[in-house]
Amino acid sequence: MDKYRLHIFVCLGKRCAAKGSEEVLDRLKERIKKDGLKADVKVSRSGCLQVCKETHSEGEYSPAIVIYPEGVWYRNVTVSDVDEIVDRHVRKGETMERLLHYRMTL
Ligand code: FES
Repeated sequence: MDKYRLHIFVCLGKRCAAKGSEEVLDRLKERIKKDGLKADVKVSRSGCLQVCKETHSEGEYSPAIVIYPEGVWYRNVTVSDVDEIVDRHVRKGETMERLLHYRMTL
C-alpha cells in the first residue's frame, strides 16, 4: 500500500528558481501542513524538469511542477496559484487547464 496519495515535485532548477519556484515550494508546503494533509500529500523539490527548455525562449514556461500519480505537469505556476492548486487539484482531483502543460498517458 502506498504511503502518499499524491506526490508533488516543484522544480528548483535555475530557470524556475529565477522565477519564484522556491516561494511556490514554501507556500505549497505551508498549505499542505496547515490543511492537515502531510500524511496524504508529499511535496518535494526537483531539479530541472526540462519544461524550461521546450521553447526557444528558455524559462518561458517556468516555474514548473508535476503531480503524481496523475502525471499532470503544470507550467508558469506562481505563489498566487498555490491555494487554487490545493483547493482544486489536491482536494478535488480537478486538473487546472489554465496551468496545464502536459498530462501523461498512464
Ligand atoms: S529549471 Fe525548471 S524546468 Fe528547467
